[in-house]
Amino acid sequence: MNPRSKSALVNGFCILVALVAVLRLVTVPAESVEGAVREHPCVQNLKASFQGVPCSAVLAASESYDRSIRRTLQAKCYDCHGVVSRMPLYAKVPPVKGLVAKDVRRAKKEFNMSAGFPFMGKKDFLEDLHELEEVVEEGEMPPIEYKLMHWQSGLTASERGKILAWAKNTSNALKALRQASPSSSGAQ
Ligand code: HEC
Repeated sequence: MNPRSKSALVNGFCILVALVAVLRLVTVPAESVEGAVREHPCVQNLKASFQGVPCSAVLAASESYDRSIRRTLQAKCYDCHGVVSRMPLYAKVPPVKGLVAKDVRRAKKEFNMSAGFPFMGKKDFLEDLHELEEVVEEGEMPPIEYKLMHWQSGLTASERGKILAWAKNTSNALKALRQASPSSSGAQ
């Protein structure tokens, strides 16, 4: 390769890097803000139980989630698993737009953290905690292709430690209460 075409290549590459850097700074409102507040019996009745666990404990877990890890998950996970009002500009550019929209739909269906803990899903909330623990432990989330686009989006070691500690403590506490509860059939 002669030196001229080599420097053209280097310039082209620099321009590309600069463009991506600029695009990352520009954010636009996301198209759909999903994440209606889900109703569970604890919202109306503190004395009720939710999936076999007394509501007082469910609400305590919900508060500790808000206090200790919600902010981290909001920053690192809610783009796909919760309510976001802003998405990076390139998320609007086809074909990225299509890919992101599809991922977000799938992510929300699988695991929706929009309304905090308990998460919205089809599953038992102890199973949700177990899954959270699993993906954080294995470093599976955010998905690799997403980390490549937002290179600061991965969880730091201390964030992972906090999430894992919260998930373990909460799941142990709630499990013990469910086992102790007279109606431990998992009824709502
Ligand atoms: C770019 C979008 C995106 C981001 C950001 C993201 N996820 Fe996901 N997540 C997905 C998709 C898509 C799925 C569902 C399909 C799959 O298994 O790949 C998923 C699935 C999950 C599941 C369910 C796993 C299972 O086995 O069913 C959990 C738990 C989860 N994500 C947690 C997280 C956490 C915690 C974060 C933040 C640290 C996060 N995700 C960030 C897209 C995302």
